[in-house]
Amino acid sequence: MGFKVCIVGATGAVGVEFMQVLERRNFPVDELLLLASKRSAGTTLMFKGKPIVVKELQKDSFQGQDLALFSAGSGISKEYRQACVEAGCLMVDNSSAFRMEDGVPLVVPEINPAEAAKALQKNGGKGVIANPNCTTIIALMALAPLHREAGIKRLVAATYQAASGAGHAAMVELEDSTRAFLDGKSYTPKVLPHPYAFNLFPHNSPMTDNGYCEEEIKLSKESNKILGEKGLRITGTCVRVPVLRTHAEALNVEFQRPLSVERAYELLGKTVGVTVLEDRAKNRWAMPIDVAGHDDVYVGRIRRDLSQDNTLDIWVVGDQLLKGAALNAVQCAEVALLGALAPNANR
Ligand code: A2P
Repeated sequence: MGFKVCIVGATGAVGVEFMQVLERRNFPVDELLLLASKRSAGTTLMFKGKPIVVKELQKDSFQGQDLALFSAGSGISKEYRQACVEAGCLMVDNSSAFRMEDGVPLVVPEINPAEAAKALQKNGGKGVIANPNCTTIIALMALAPLHREAGIKRLVAATYQAASGAGHAAMVELEDSTRAFLDGKSYTPKVLPHPYAFNLFPHNSPMTDNGYCEEEIKLSKESNKILGEKGLRITGTCVRVPVLRTHAEALNVEFQRPLSVERAYELLGKTVGVTVLEDRAKNRWAMPIDVAGHDDVYVGRIRRDLSQDNTLDIWVVGDQLLKGAALNAVQCAEVALLGALAPNANR
């Protein structure tokens, strides 16, 4: 038995990945409905070798649908949540709209899979699963197994975030502005607030009163919710770098109990969804170009922080559009509706 699946934001950077992930993981799709704004209604996209015409999102789009994968921004998620849920359609939402709402599970299926089924209305849930922030998912894939073993006390994160997190238009801006730079032409940024070619800048999410941007606050709050904790001390500096689709993160993690470098490698070496990639002798670690298009999160460069007890430094790299967004969302649907995860593909 298959499902009627719709994608809200089908023409976007994550929307296109939703289709590929559903196809690649053989998710049982009986019918796929592609939804976007009026602007791209009528566009044709391919799914399993067949063309599907994109339709304009409407309040009644969810009638008869089993699963809706949303990635069209928080505003659209808020506007259409009620219509989706009232139609009895499970909403897996890639935006930040409901992540911190009580009763809405925030799920990374390798970490807290049981939460996903709690979203189902037949289980008394609200009909919504929130897909966490991309940076948070990627960090926690490496940190959750270590937290279970030794208990995180404090995390200091520095992130190197790709254009894809700001959507398809930001990826185009990176390419166009780089080309303009090389051609000696001027380029006025249209999507991001600063010149992007051969540059980097603190994350462009809204600034808050305490000097953290929202992305940094998400990392802290969402990590606590996913790990079922309240008091993990987390601070981060999130930076947008001129990379197309893969985030890298330097994590400095202090633990409550001793954890050796060897044991950390052992734990991560057997974690589903994590690949250790490194060649210490050659000073070669996972890079965005290694990881783009791969399902797993890649880790390495684990070393003891010489400045502080019980503290490790870890390098983590993950495809923002896959594990950071579309893959994690489809995996949420897998555990909620099928009860198990399909295997990952690392191409
Ligand atoms: P459209 O192509 O019609 O603008 P990204 O995250 O890459 O920026 O993509 C955003 C996605 O959200 C796109 O598919 C976009 O569709 C969709 N979207 C934006 N605004 C709306 C809207 N008002 N109704 C439905 N979909 C929307």
